[in-house]
Amino acid sequence: MLKNKTIIVGVSGGIAAYKTCEVVSRLKDLGANVYVVMTKSAQEFVSPLTFRTLSGNPVITYLFSKELKNIPVPHISLSQKADLIIIAPATANIIGKVARGIADDPISTITMSAKCKKLIAPAMNCEMWRNPVVSENTVKLKKLGFVFVGPEVGKLACGDHDIGRMSEPNQIIEKAIELIGVKQDLKREKILVTAGGTREAIDPVRFISNRSSGKMGYAVAEAARDRGAEVTLISANVALPSPLDIKPIKVESADEMLTAVLGNYSEADIIIMAAAVGDYKSEIRNSKFILRSSAATENGSETKLKSKTLNLKLIKNHDIIKTISQQKGRAKKILVGFALETDNLLTNAKKKLKEKDLDMIVANDETTFDSDSAKVTIISKNGKAKKLPKLRKSETANRILDALLRL
Ligand code: CTP
Repeated sequence: MLKNKTIIVGVSGGIAAYKTCEVVSRLKDLGANVYVVMTKSAQEFVSPLTFRTLSGNPVITYLFSKELKNIPVPHISLSQKADLIIIAPATANIIGKVARGIADDPISTITMSAKCKKLIAPAMNCEMWRNPVVSENTVKLKKLGFVFVGPEVGKLACGDHDIGRMSEPNQIIEKAIELIGVKQDLKREKILVTAGGTREAIDPVRFISNRSSGKMGYAVAEAARDRGAEVTLISANVALPSPLDIKPIKVESADEMLTAVLGNYSEADIIIMAAAVGDYKSEIRNSKFILRSSAATENGSETKLKSKTLNLKLIKNHDIIKTISQQKGRAKKILVGFALETDNLLTNAKKKLKEKDLDMIVANDETTFDSDSAKVTIISKNGKAKKLPKLRKSETANRILDALLRL
């Protein structure tokens, strides 16, 4: 449920730090990539080596440590890739520093630069917890969106039975899952996703293509995988690494993509065409590099190019998604298209939804190209349109999948 999530666990100085070992171990078991950050006093209770062994990652005890030489500007790069920061145990001191904007140790520094969700598991003496300054700091952090788990009533380090005990590891883990856990709501679904921009060759080195980066399609494939789906990814030309556990079927042209889609769609329950498919291809594919002075003709002979212009005859490619929507057995499948528009975004997207007989279409404009974020409107067959704010493509992908489940 936490597969591919990056979680920073901040450990400040308290006896409850021994329970954080269990937290780290469970987070790892749930698939998270965990980085432990410790204050100086935390190291009096548990050794960094314990957390290094449990997390499988270097432990951050000092931001200038040699061990972090492979992580450039660690307090920024780590916090930027984190999906969640858990501070457990959180002492009155660290709560105070985070609430008041002090950044003088690895936990408070990393937390200050993080935009992700934050979970605090306080642990301290009951009188410290009741101290009005601590209460004020806690209220302030809650207002800022920090989530608290505990403290609980129980046996404290001083021997008292009172409030201040850190929540048990399973309560902390449950909260973490609630905050960033991935629902397994696409389990047993077979999803076919296409991504990237097709290339239509003119000669061995030249082609007609578009600016699609494939990032949206890859984000959809990854989100579907994380939610339990069995994903087939047909990828046209992208400069992206293959997603974990998915081996993309690589294609180049629209014709190759059509063949790959036709060869794989019958197995799929859901087909998501995020690829930017070229509408036209060159009628002739010159087997040789076109020189300034000569090019191949339709019948294969060479023609001298004397004029200042070179005419390239383009012919229409098949509409892949329309071909699928017209196939027998299509009724049992959900078809999702993407619409790239520069003008009349919603009107044109709705037209495509109808003409291609889709269940849903995701309308976006050209600003989405090659960006890590997208601003889209999701339109479903019943005409309902949902405009999403500008979000990271991974978040947009999850919203698209949510909408698809509501169809
Ligand atoms: N599409 C397709 N086959 C094509 C062209 C597009 O399957 N030959 C799919 C795209 O993957 C997308 C949807 O159709 O899901 C809409 O693509 P888009 O390029 O926005 O629209 P077109 O139908 O190509 O029309 P136009 O280029 O005129 O906007």
